[in-house]
Amino acid sequence: MDIRFSSVSVSFGGRAVLQPLTLSLTERRIGIIGLNGSGKTTFARLINGLVKPATGTVTVNGLDTVNDASAALAEAGFIFQNPQHQIIMPIVHEDIAFGLKNRGLKADEIERRTAAVLERFGISHLAKRRVHELSGGETQLAAIASVLVTGPGILILDEPTNQLDLKNRGLVERTIAGLDEHTIVISHDLPLIEKFDRVLLFHEGRLIADGAAEDSIRAYHEVAGC
Ligand SMILES: Nc1ncnc2c1ncn2[C@@H]1O[C@H](COP(=O)(O)OP(=O)(O)OP(=O)(O)O)[C@@H](O)[C@H]1O
Ligand SMILES: [Mg+2]
Repeated sequence: MDIRFSSVSVSFGGRAVLQPLTLSLTERRIGIIGLNGSGKTTFARLINGLVKPATGTVTVNGLDTVNDASAALAEAGFIFQNPQHQIIMPIVHEDIAFGLKNRGLKADEIERRTAAVLERFGISHLAKRRVHELSGGETQLAAIASVLVTGPGILILDEPTNQLDLKNRGLVERTIAGLDEHTIVISHDLPLIEKFDRVLLFHEGRLIADGAAEDSIRAYHEVAGC
């Protein structure tokens, strides 16, 4: 993974929400923390082109997120804060197969890959279930499977354990820990990211700490005043 931000800033309606920043992301597991409204989701959305920089450029594995938008988009999969919002088809199996159909794969190849990803995440028993009837943890796993089935090398998860109970939280945590893909996780759930290789702390639109998880978490407690 090679994600580069060069002098990138973001404004919404003339209001600066991300101050200029230059950095590159290469580590296997990266956490993003900070108070509500500090700019975490905005930063992550720059990577898949959902947010366009006001200044500067973002490249993902050498592909510019504005000029090579669709190729850059294929490099990184994004799981939204509420994965219900990204589910397209009513049945788990169909939703996972959807991204492969869009890529024009043959039916037997779609079936093979869909079955393999369901197996990989231990959710083969959910294949025929209605997506909107799944529990929170099951929905998270189905959403991760739907994104990873198309083969992006990078997975970006925005608050993946938000609203999950202890059991489902553990399930999603273990799943993330076992992923081969490079992973960027935005979370208020600090134990989830405390073993990550690198943690970025945003505060009021600025990157104010960037390094070892324990250092960034300590700095977060300082800005939060607790
Ligand atoms: N599309 C938008 N239009 C206008 N303002 C926006 C938009 N998206 C985000 N903002 C503003 O930008 C700032 C940063 O928002 P962002 O969603 O990046 O925060 P966050 O750190 O992810 O917060 P949270 O922890 O609450 O999810 C906030 O003040 C937010 O209101
Ligand atoms: Mg957010």
